[in-house]
Amino acid sequence: MNQAKHIAIIMDGNGRWAELQDKKRVKGHEAGAKVVKSITTFCSNHKDIERLTLYAFSTENWKRPRLEVEFLMKLLNSYLKKELDVYLQNNVRFEPIGDIRAFSKSLQKTIRIVQEKTAHCDGLVQSLALNYGAQDEILRAVNSLKNSHEDITLEMLSNKLDCKHSVDLLIRTGGDKRLSNFLLWQSAYAELFFTDTLWPDFTTKELEKIIKKFKKVERRFGGLK
Ligand code: IPE
Ligand code: IPE
Ligand code: MG
Repeated sequence: MNQAKHIAIIMDGNGRWAELQDKKRVKGHEAGAKVVKSITTFCSNHKDIERLTLYAFSTENWKRPRLEVEFLMKLLNSYLKKELDVYLQNNVRFEPIGDIRAFSKSLQKTIRIVQEKTAHCDGLVQSLALNYGAQDEILRAVNSLKNSHEDITLEMLSNKLDCKHSVDLLIRTGGDKRLSNFLLWQSAYAELFFTDTLWPDFTTKELEKIIKKFKKVERRFGGLK
């Protein structure tokens, strides 16, 4: 049976969830943050899950209205500050991926503090993808190797990526079937699961069901059964 050692989730549908209830889109983001907490806690209690990588803000999300972007930045800051104790209680190590240099100095500081304070935790690794785009990640990796005198190998490039771990199970909520620039390299052989559930409605029960299906999939990696 397969093991879902690395689960990655495109947490989509916050805005639609709010609009369906005649609420402002940002209310969907608030509700979504609560689900981040419950899914992370669930994964931290399952020893076979080693990594949970969550798409929180893409390099393309800057195109959104200024007020929504500002709200998301504030929400991220307060979420991280509030969750630090929960990370520690659950032995979760926080590792951001993405180019956080685009964020305000104070948000960068919060991110770094939570990363440093949880660095000793050796349970689940929770990665939030922040100002993350797979194309940007690969481009930064290639640029950091451009002065190399030898031919670039798979290992060399992989080691320069923000996320150095291949994905086993990739889930997208919200009904769309696309990757939206998320972990393109690392998902080369990921099993893809798409659900219509909007992220604020996503539950640990649904995650359990998906993991159960994933476990039975025959993964061949280009070989034969
Ligand atoms: C995902 O939900 C969260 C972020 C991209 C920050 P959306 O905000 O994309 O919600 P929908 O897709 O518009 O419903
Ligand atoms: C992907 O969702 C990004 C995150 C979940 C953070 P989007 O809502 O930005 O994706 P598109 O625009 O529908 O492809
Ligand atoms: Mg969306």
